[in-house]
Amino acid sequence: MELPKPRTMAARSLLLLLSLTIAGVFQSRAQLDSHGFISIDCGLPGTASYVDDGTGLSRRLHRHGTNYDISPDYITEQLSRTYHNVRSIPNGTRNCYTLRSLTTGNKYLVRAAFKYGDYDSLNRPPVFDLYVGVNYWKTVNLVDPDDVIRIVEAIVVVPADFVQVCLVNTDSGTPFISGLDLRPLNNSLYPQANATRGLVLLGRFNFGPTNATDVRYPDDPLDRIWLPWIDNTNWTEISTTLTVHNSLVDIFEAPSKVMQTAITPRDASKNIELSWDPKPQPKDPSPGYIANLHFSELQLLPSGSVRAFYVNLNGDLWYSLPFTPEYLYADALFSLDPTKRPKQSKGFQDGYSDFGGNTENDHEKTKVSAIAAIKAKYRVQKNWIGDPCLPRTLTWDGLTCRYAISQPPRITGV
Ligand SMILES: *[C@@H]1O[C@H](CO)[C@@H](O)[C@H](O)[C@H]1NC(C)=O
Ligand SMILES: *[C@@H]1O[C@H](CO)[C@@H](O)[C@H](O)[C@H]1NC(C)=O
Ligand SMILES: *[C@@H]1O[C@H](CO)[C@@H](O)[C@H](O)[C@H]1NC(C)=O
Ligand SMILES: *[C@@H]1O[C@H](CO)[C@@H](O)[C@H](O)[C@H]1NC(C)=O
Ligand SMILES: *[C@@H]1O[C@H](CO)[C@@H](O)[C@H](O)[C@H]1NC(C)=O
Repeated sequence: MELPKPRTMAARSLLLLLSLTIAGVFQSRAQLDSHGFISIDCGLPGTASYVDDGTGLSRRLHRHGTNYDISPDYITEQLSRTYHNVRSIPNGTRNCYTLRSLTTGNKYLVRAAFKYGDYDSLNRPPVFDLYVGVNYWKTVNLVDPDDVIRIVEAIVVVPADFVQVCLVNTDSGTPFISGLDLRPLNNSLYPQANATRGLVLLGRFNFGPTNATDVRYPDDPLDRIWLPWIDNTNWTEISTTLTVHNSLVDIFEAPSKVMQTAITPRDASKNIELSWDPKPQPKDPSPGYIANLHFSELQLLPSGSVRAFYVNLNGDLWYSLPFTPEYLYADALFSLDPTKRPKQSKGFQDGYSDFGGNTENDHEKTKVSAIAAIKAKYRVQKNWIGDPCLPRTLTWDGLTCRYAISQPPRITGV
């Protein structure tokens, strides 16, 4: 049996020490709705709210900075209303939104969205920094490619009953923002995030969806965004209409809609391989990554047969046993601590190895846990070459999804 290689979500772990300071020339306040959600459409004038077509959630409008409509050239039927206008913040180095009425010590998903759309008619998309409180979160680069929607997401434990999201001008254009969301998470979810460590999302994918739409609220009650990843050339997509349940102790609560579709390699002798390039961060030149892999069996297998596969991380067995997904129950493989890119990796039989180098023993060992039981130990794999797999119109900054194929695992979501 060959190793199915892990796939790609990886939340970049960043130390987000959430001690907050008040910063900013203006403050925008935002309050919770009945779901405990905060949804701000940063670019709209006035104070009314509207119901978002896609999610049915009410969006509040905000009144700070200057609002602009994006150029009509960029408005399409599919473009969510959130992106039709932006809030532009020309003055001051650091400007913050304050999200209030939170519960101190609780875990939240914070998501900021950006679409430039030549709103200022300068055709000069900016680059600027985002902070959660005083902690660097991400550099928002709208230059390349310049017409995408950028979504930046973090999972953080808040040290106070509010959290600030700050846009920091780095002299590379005027910061702006299209939308800002906050969603509560149970503290047991995403155990990799705690009071001293936040997670920055690299990507979250739904494999083998029946059509190319995102999955989010209400299909995912937590309103995570699961991007479709479709590759009919290399993968066979399988699905069920039956509900896929979360196990009682599920710490990710992957939604049934995501778990109902999955992939297996079209060529059963191949593996599924997913990789990405670490992106040096201002205070962390070689960031570590955490992968959470979600699995469920979707097919009733003939009696006596078993689907089992290995999962490797950076070329080494991550999980010591063959993994067998449970029929219609979601399980996950994940590491609690970040894995660094190996200094070098073993050669890969598929010829995609690109780390060069020959020495071994340099991999960082990573602890892996599975929900249902302690299942095994694996690690991730290096890079390969391949085409970016996402629709280029919506991307999480920093993710290059590349993969080659491998063997009969089924991956339902990352
Ligand atoms: C930015 O500052 C200038 C000069 O102080 C002022 O005229 C302008 O109204 C300010 N713009 C915003 C959006 O606050
Ligand atoms: C959090 O967990 C509690 C108990 O485990 C549950 O009752 C509650 O619905 C959960 N909240 C969310 C937002 O999932
Ligand atoms: C957060 O997790 C990291 C890694 O497991 C650990 O070193 C740190 O002590 C944890 N922080 C808290 C407050 O538990
Ligand atoms: C995509 O599939 C979902 C059900 O899986 C369906 O509700 C939705 O209408 C489909 N969208 C398109 C554009 O076909
Ligand atoms: C299928 O896999 C090959 C080899 O890894 C890759 O070059 C190709 O881009 C993949 N096909 C698609 C549609 O992404």
